[in-house]
Formats: sequence, C-alpha cells, structure tokens
Amino acid sequence: MSRWVADPDEDLFADAGPSARRSSEGHPLDGRLAADDLEIDRTLRPQTLDEYQGQTRVHENLRVLIEAARGRREPLDHVLLSGPPGLGKTTLAGVIANEMGTAMHVTSGPAIARTGDLAALLTNLEPGDVLFIDEIHRLNHSVEEVLYPAMEDFALDIMIGKGPAARSLRLDVARFTLVGATTRTGLLTGPLRDRFGIALRLDYYDPAELADIVRRSAGILGVAIDEGATREIALRSRGTPRLANRLLKRVRDYAEVKAGGRLDAEVAGEALEFFAIDELGLDSMDLAILTALAQTFGGRPVGLGTLADAVGEDASTLEDVYEPYLIQQGLMARTQRGRQAMPRAFEHLGLTLPGM
Ligand SMILES: Nc1ncnc2c1ncn2[C@@H]1O[C@H](COP(=O)(O)OP(=O)(O)OP(=O)(O)O)[C@@H](O)[C@H]1O
Ligand SMILES: [Mg+2]
Repeated sequence: MSRWVADPDEDLFADAGPSARRSSEGHPLDGRLAADDLEIDRTLRPQTLDEYQGQTRVHENLRVLIEAARGRREPLDHVLLSGPPGLGKTTLAGVIANEMGTAMHVTSGPAIARTGDLAALLTNLEPGDVLFIDEIHRLNHSVEEVLYPAMEDFALDIMIGKGPAARSLRLDVARFTLVGATTRTGLLTGPLRDRFGIALRLDYYDPAELADIVRRSAGILGVAIDEGATREIALRSRGTPRLANRLLKRVRDYAEVKAGGRLDAEVAGEALEFFAIDELGLDSMDLAILTALAQTFGGRPVGLGTLADAVGEDASTLEDVYEPYLIQQGLMARTQRGRQAMPRAFEHLGLTLPGM
C-alpha cells in the first residue's frame, strides 16, 4: 500500500477536480461535491490496475511499462494524463503509486505559487516516490523552469543572494516519477510536454464499461440493484465514472424513499427523470447550452464568450466540462467561425432545423 502524503495546503475539493467547480447551483448533480460525495469518491476509487475498469489501451500500456520499470528496479518514467473531468486521472495516479509500491505526494498547479514551494516538495521526495501535480497546465512560468532540470536530471538549481554576489547552487533530488494531470493538453507548454516519457489520454467510457463500474460500486456500497437499473445509470452518466457513481447514489436515495428500496430499470428511469437527467445523460446546463445554440442563435456559429454569457457559465468551464461530451455525442461542433448546434441537437430538443 502506498502512503498518501497530502499537501497541507490542498484544497478540500482539489481531488474532486474541475467538474466540482461547476458554478450552477440548485441541481442535485451540480455545484461543488458535497462532503459525503467526496467521501464516496474516495471509497469507490480503485487502488490497483485490476480494479481500474475500462480505458483498455491506457490500461495495457501502463501494465507493460510498470512491469518493465519494476523489473529494472527503476522508477517509472514521468507520466502525463489528460482528458475531461471525472474520467479517472487522479485515480490512475494513485494506482500507479500503488502498483509501484511507493508513496504519492499530491499537489496542483495553482497550489505551487512560488519556486520555493516546488523546491520544498521536491526535496521531500524519497527515491521512487510519485509526485502528482493536478491541473499541471496552471503552473506558472518560473515554477515550470525549476521543474525542467528536476524532471530531466533530478537536480534543483537554487539561486542564492541577489545582484552581483548571486550564485546558483545545484541540489540533488531523489529519482521520482512525476504524474501530471490536465483537462487541457493544448494549454501545456511544448518544453513541459516533451519532458514526459509517457503521455496517456483518457476517453469517455462506453456504457458496458460504466455498467461494470456501477456494479462494482453497488457491491462496495451494499446497494441491491438489478441489471436494468445498472444499464439505465450507465447510459445516462455522460461516459463519466464520477457521474455514474453519483447517479447510483442518487438513484438509491430515490428508491429508498419512493419505491421501498426496489431498484430496477423503471425506478431508475423515474429517479433520473426526477433529477432532470435526460436519456443522453444531459443535465440542465448541457440543455441550456444546446438550447442557446439551436434556438437563441438559430444554429448560427457563435463565439465561446457569447455562448458563456448566454448560459451564465464561465467560458473555461464550458470548454473543459461541458463541450467535450456534447461534441463527442455529435450534438455541437467547434468550427473556425464558432460554436454551432448540430442536427442531432435540434432532433434531441424537438426543434426543426432552420431552413427545413
Ligand atoms: N477506471 C475506473 N474504474 C472505476 N472507477 C473509476 C475509474 N475512473 C474513475 N473512477 C471513479 O470516478 C471517480 C472520479 O475519478 P477521478 O477523480 O480520478 O477523475 P479525474 O480524471 O481526476 O477528474 P478531474 O479532472 O475532475 O480531477 C473516482 O473516485 C472513482 O471512484
Ligand atoms: Mg482529478
């Protein structure tokens, strides 16, 4: 088992990730993760590669690389994990540390404000330790410069003194593995990206994989759920394990209160309707985005800022959290001229395509 060494400054919600910062309020699945959701996230988080479901390609790659590193008794090469929120980046970092039998130190890009903060983290590492930096695209430039030699040569260059008397001192850092996570690979600088030996991209899970996750979680939580309800939740969780787990919990609550604990497809369907999750797993913000694009803007391309204003959501949250799934589902597109509703969005909203 690995030791998890939490950064004392770590935001309570840091490992809930960007999706936890959805700013819309009032919906049971929106807003910051409630404390019990966070607890559930932790209980359900896979610890080993065998428990980590789906992501077949990533899974196979990692199994080989970890086995090879272990065979050579060397730390794993630095790993960059990218992909939309809730797909298992933080989880995978923990799995890597566990499989390598080492400790994981957790921090995030915005938490490392000064180069001294990074130096303190790096000098604290034992050989083989995993340093997990979440939201690594948000590291500031001077911190990044200190990270380069640490990643490449396991060395730390520190400036002592000021002016003409200033000199640089080189300290050794233990051979560690940096695991960086980002929802936005495009925002990483080239030099930083190049220093990762392993880059893995996580994609949305398919319903069969999500059904496996729901079954495992139901087992851990002691929820008696049938196959129909499992499938219903899997289909409506936006390809995202975090949402699958959250829906499972909400549906269980509903079943206890409204159906005497019976949890079948019918009750699951009712519950999801009650919580305003539609057949594609879209929530109220997803629908607001599609309605703005299809109805308010009549299917014409619009800029990100305009769309964000129209739905009252922050532009980067739209880009990180909402758009990737809507694009993957063929409901909207990012074109040269702006964001645009696709025919499937009109169909889903029951609107007629303009010009038809
Ligand atoms: N492959 C998986 N198998 C089973 N459960 C998973 C898997 N991936 C993620 N989960 C579940 O989903 C939850 C969210 O995953 P995690 O926090 O790792 O996502 P993330 O990619 O780090 O998200 P963010 O970008 O928001 O930080 C985990 O607590 C875990 O319970
Ligand atoms: Mg995370």
